[in-house]
Amino acid sequence: MSALTIVLTGACGGIGKALAVAFSSAGHNLVLIGRNAEALAALRDGLPRPRSHRYLVADLSSAADIIELCADIADGPAIDVLVNNAGVSNFGLLSDTDDATMEQLLQLNMLAPMRLCRELMPLLLKSQNATVINIGSGFGSIGFAGFAVYSASKFGLRGFTEAMQREYANEQIAIHYLAPRAVKTSMNSDKVVAMNTDLGNAADDPEVVASAAIALLQQRKSSNRYLGWPERFFVRLNALFPSIVSSALKKQLGTILRYAKSS
Ligand SMILES: NC(=O)c1ccc[n+]([C@@H]2O[C@H](COP(=O)([O-])OP(=O)(O)OC[C@H]3O[C@@H](n4cnc5c(N)ncnc54)[C@H](OP(=O)(O)O)[C@@H]3O)[C@@H](O)[C@H]2O)c1
Repeated sequence: MSALTIVLTGACGGIGKALAVAFSSAGHNLVLIGRNAEALAALRDGLPRPRSHRYLVADLSSAADIIELCADIADGPAIDVLVNNAGVSNFGLLSDTDDATMEQLLQLNMLAPMRLCRELMPLLLKSQNATVINIGSGFGSIGFAGFAVYSASKFGLRGFTEAMQREYANEQIAIHYLAPRAVKTSMNSDKVVAMNTDLGNAADDPEVVASAAIALLQQRKSSNRYLGWPERFFVRLNALFPSIVSSALKKQLGTILRYAKSS
């Protein structure tokens, strides 16, 4: 595959860095997006072929920043791929979640990918290899206690991706939904890590997500990819027989609430 130009949000985060390393090692050129110019510069300088990559600063929870960012991207070299990876999580009871937290989370996890897709689609569609990868979550298919707002945001992102796959079915663009299970990054607080250990939930290294994203770049047909076993099985089971999954999760509720209440 020839070198692609990939716009990557959340580039300085745990999964973002692994994606940046994998993409640049595969010979692709990056437009790294984040909020901290110094961290972005350090990331770029540590990648193979640093002069092939550039970075842009934007707060993706701001609609105005996204418009400005997309104008900057349009002023640069042609782009082939958008990876919507930036995201925040929130662990706790809904009753303890304030409006600002809900709004910030939905702005970043749902509205930013929608706005970026809308603004960048005309540029992407000029490429023979046009691709969007939306980084979802297993919680985008299985609503999980303690993660109500985060689950809702990823359900929304999954629904958006499915609608986009259908809306652009006649165009030469692959639109993928890539849903990791728990990943070892600082997104997960110590409490979440301890809860996952108690519940026996496995966590992947960020490189697992990066390998899956690299594989998706080769795929010209839109797809949904769920990482991890048995999580992938539970995603399917929840779609067909949600009451079975509800019964299984009810057995874990005491443990989940113990951590969620104290977070
Ligand atoms: N970790 C997991 O267990 C897990 C599991 C499933 C799915 N995911 C998904 O994977 C993606 C990456 O997560 P991660 O684990 O790598 O998290 P992370 O290490 O916390 O990184 C999150 C990234 O999001 C960026 N970000 C946060 N708020 C932003 C804002 N307002 N504007 C622009 N960028 C912002 C951060 O950028 P700055 O550098 O500017 O701070 C950071 O690079 C997320 O979509 C997450 O939902 C994660």
